Amino acid sequence: IIFKDSNEASILVAQEIANLVREKESQNKPCILGLATGSSPIKVYEELIRIHKEEGLSFANVITFNLDEYYPMDKNNIQSYFYFMHEHLFNHIDILPENINIPNGKVSAEDLYQSCIDYEMKIKAVGGLDFQLLGIGRTGHIGFNEPGSHLNSGTRNITLDHITRVDAAPAFLGIDNVPRKAITMGIGTVLSAKRIVLLGWGANKAEILKETIEGEITSEVPATYLQHHNNTTFIIDEGASSEL
Ligand code: GLP
Repeated sequence: IIFKDSNEASILVAQEIANLVREKESQNKPCILGLATGSSPIKVYEELIRIHKEEGLSFANVITFNLDEYYPMDKNNIQSYFYFMHEHLFNHIDILPENINIPNGKVSAEDLYQSCIDYEMKIKAVGGLDFQLLGIGRTGHIGFNEPGSHLNSGTRNITLDHITRVDAAPAFLGIDNVPRKAITMGIGTVLSAKRIVLLGWGANKAEILKETIEGEITSEVPATYLQHHNNTTFIIDEGASSEL
């Protein structure tokens, strides 16, 4: 769906999430949300905070799983996705701290593999992701699933693509400070979500969105795997749609 204005689009996405949270609450069920970082979802989070404050939407029945975290990364570091999520959403809503899940960027090398398995198992244990919010990187990554990622991949440690590190460099005050690795949910994890919404704003996403939406399904552009999913919507603005 192509929108003139990314603000208007973000508000609609937030409303869909809010409706899902309410629906699950009315069924006395937890609502399992997969969340993303980056600039793309910020307005969605702002709108969810507004709905919480002004319309009384409660997140008490919500369990979240974030897509990814840099590795190694201390959660108190302002560049961490832990910090980002608290700053842009969690500190402003009534979600229970124990219901927030973000890959642990501080786990030791020996425990890393098991912590990825545990993350995956925890998503399954609560019944799987009801909704997954995504952005897209210029390499075609979703989460941090860089080119070469397998269709059935699960949560794991991954080496970041050079382009991804270049894009992250401003936030880290230089590429030398950008971690070389990350922990990310896998393509398989993302595709297991019952509903997926990918956000893309601006002309610098136009080329990769063309490849993602119109190109052949290939591990070279991991976001093309979304073509396999039967309930995914790409919500993009005019700039991002300019190559379609
Ligand atoms: C990072 C995140 C991705 C995100 C991407 C795009 O690489 N790991 O999940 O989609 O950035 O970020 P932005 O939304 O700022 O363009």
